[in-house]
Amino acid sequence: MITTDINIAKEELIKNELVAIPTETVYGLAGNAFNDSAIQKIFDLKKRPNSNPLIVHIKSSKVLHELATDIPQKAQKLADVFWPGPLTLVLKKRFIISDLITAGKETVAIRVPNHPMTLQLLQELEFPLVAPSANSFGAISPTCSEHVQDYFKDHLNVILDGGNCIQGIESTIIGFENHEPILYRYGSLPIEEIEEIIGPVRIHIHDNNYPEAPGMMSKHYAPKTTTYLTQNVSHLIELFKGQKIGVIVFQNEVNSQHISFQEVLSNDGNFNEASKNLYGAMHRLDKQNLDIIIAEKIPDKNLGKSINDRLKRASNNTIENY
Ligand code: TXA
Ligand code: MG
Repeated sequence: MITTDINIAKEELIKNELVAIPTETVYGLAGNAFNDSAIQKIFDLKKRPNSNPLIVHIKSSKVLHELATDIPQKAQKLADVFWPGPLTLVLKKRFIISDLITAGKETVAIRVPNHPMTLQLLQELEFPLVAPSANSFGAISPTCSEHVQDYFKDHLNVILDGGNCIQGIESTIIGFENHEPILYRYGSLPIEEIEEIIGPVRIHIHDNNYPEAPGMMSKHYAPKTTTYLTQNVSHLIELFKGQKIGVIVFQNEVNSQHISFQEVLSNDGNFNEASKNLYGAMHRLDKQNLDIIIAEKIPDKNLGKSINDRLKRASNNTIENY
């Protein structure tokens, strides 16, 4: 059921059942963070390996200390400035956090999501919510309730509908080593804004198939259709003409009779708008029975870095030199 009634979501969660929840980044598949059976249901429904840890969503930075300990000053500063918001902090976990959530790690990923419905839901519940993105493992994250419905159909009873996600890309993940910050995942909060608050952040993005944190696998966020990422869309269209081609461009529409579908992420060249539209565009193109999707690499700064990161993971091939 797709509903806007928070009480329905609340009752389901109290029964240790799962509910899809809206956040400002993407929809999450949520369950009671203090109940292992609810947590395991998330892994099962997503077909996600238990080795890939989950994010805990809390109602306010005030309760952070109940779940994490040994919190670096820089982490506290980021929480104070950016929560509620699209920033996840990986911190030393307290005993109360189940090993099922952290995949046996000593650290736990935590954030305060910035969506009025979900914040209200969290306020009314007596437990935090674990919530990975509400998609099957490896697929494109959902940015509206219909995407979630498409993934889980009758296997999920309640989807709390909070409209289209305003950010559209997952949260930025920051961890710490000896209290110094490390970027684990590019996301909706640009790294430049984080560095303005706490200074330089070491970049440590996993790009192979056996990463420490498997969510950062290179093949992730992927459409089913073969996807190419390129600087020069027109050249690739020439190369693949005759096939059924879909195109994702940043700002400027491509003029070509060889393409079947085209998605322009932002006519104004606005990064926020582009990131908000990215997954919706990927979902739509993926439904068109295309032979290939050609995606344009966008300017590599600010949110552009996060969009390029997701396009790269979505693509089977980067053709840099064309
Ligand atoms: O925006 C978001 O973060 C969304 C919304 C629903 O909050 N959630 C999300 O969750 O993207 P998920 O599970 O799709 O991605 C969480 C990532 C995974 O890549 C996981 O490996 C990583 O966080 N992660 C979780 N706990 C971790 C830990 N202790 N250390 C390192 N990485 C961790
Ligand atoms: Mg995910």
